Amino acid sequence: MKANSVVIAGGGSTYTAGIVMMLIENQDIFPLRSLKLYDIDANRQGIVADACAVIVKERAPHVTFSATTDPAEAFTDVDFVMAHIRAGGLPMREKDEKIPLKYGVVGQETCGPGGIAYGMRSIPAVIRLIDYMETYSPHAWILNYSNPASIVAEATRVLRPDSRIINICDMPIAIKKSFSDILGIPESDFVERYYGLNHFGWWTEIHDKAGNDLMPALKEHTRQWGYGPAATESGNPLLEEASWMDTFRKTKDIHAVDPDTLPSTYLKYYLFPDYVVSHSNPDFTRANEVMAHREKNIFAECRRIAEAGTARDTTIEAGEHAEFVVHLARALAYNTYERMLLIVPNNGAIANVDPTAMVEIPCLVSKRGYEPLSIGTIPTFQKGLIEQQVSSEKLVVEAYIEKSYTKLWQAITLNKTVPSASVAKQILDDLVEANRDYWPELD
Ligand code: G6P
Ligand code: MN
Repeated sequence: MKANSVVIAGGGSTYTAGIVMMLIENQDIFPLRSLKLYDIDANRQGIVADACAVIVKERAPHVTFSATTDPAEAFTDVDFVMAHIRAGGLPMREKDEKIPLKYGVVGQETCGPGGIAYGMRSIPAVIRLIDYMETYSPHAWILNYSNPASIVAEATRVLRPDSRIINICDMPIAIKKSFSDILGIPESDFVERYYGLNHFGWWTEIHDKAGNDLMPALKEHTRQWGYGPAATESGNPLLEEASWMDTFRKTKDIHAVDPDTLPSTYLKYYLFPDYVVSHSNPDFTRANEVMAHREKNIFAECRRIAEAGTARDTTIEAGEHAEFVVHLARALAYNTYERMLLIVPNNGAIANVDPTAMVEIPCLVSKRGYEPLSIGTIPTFQKGLIEQQVSSEKLVVEAYIEKSYTKLWQAITLNKTVPSASVAKQILDDLVEANRDYWPELD
């Protein structure tokens, strides 16, 4: 097998060390020759990179490792760009979450007005990465899981239609990990039918490889427990955090609205915004939680590794959520035709949804890229929700391109998390102010 050269864009992320660990542990299925970290923030990346250098040297000494803020160095001679950047960092995430909450509206990283604000920051940042790759390594693939994935995907469809980018999210895998715990069946044994948008989709079928229908048992569990375990213990590391456990449990109520399907956890923000707002602390949001815990712990551990000069006893684990990137890269590199959920142009796959919508559906992945599977016609409830959300997302991209205040106001007004155009305007005006350093100036 030909070994690969990978650059991780977003080198200073709290997830990067776990991704590096995951790549190293998968040398048998996806061999590396070179691994680079790239970030615009040298200090932040430095903390992670110093630890990763030790990890790579110890566990995969055949891999050349480096970290840089120079695009030419980062993007030259690479086969894959793994992009998980956060434009504006966690401090801007905090604003995305807190500003809508001030007006009694859902404050969330990728959903509602916060997701829209983040989208306006992410679009130019991700487009820049595509352009670097096309300049320095035009035959590479960019595997993008930068958020908000739906809006970013729509922007890449419109602004860089021929680019070698594949948009993907880990959430379906995190949910399938729960399904696996619930059933006691490995997730690699699942064959799924799923459709929707990113953070906005539904499973309609799950079979095992022998063809046995697993939906009845999953639905029965979900009716009682949501996607959480029947007891408080779970094998899913994500669910060790109370806020994620609450989100997984809430699928019980989402499922009740449509008992024929199993929903994405993120639908809680659209279907139960009142519940979400009343259970949010406007002074301490998820961004605060992440900064107080994951960021603090990971960075402390990275510093400890760098000082000790060894990672033999490290607590950093291969990020399970990163496994899908390895599988996606492997499928592209070695032509495995693996079936994966990707965010791709609809093009008729969902027959009664806009062909230009970026939808999340199963695809077969090979050297040639991806081939979407056909979904057919979907029910009115899902079609209505999807069309409203797609229109809101498309308006964000149009607003970005045309620098249009009105279109951004329409995007927020149309979002299901927002009660009225007047509330939308108040939130938008605050977001404009908060995003001065990131957004184009709107007229
Ligand atoms: C899941 C989603 C990502 C999101 C992340 C946030 O993994 O798929 O899109 O960014 O959750 O997690 P956090 O722990 O930062 O709140
Ligand atoms: Mn996601």
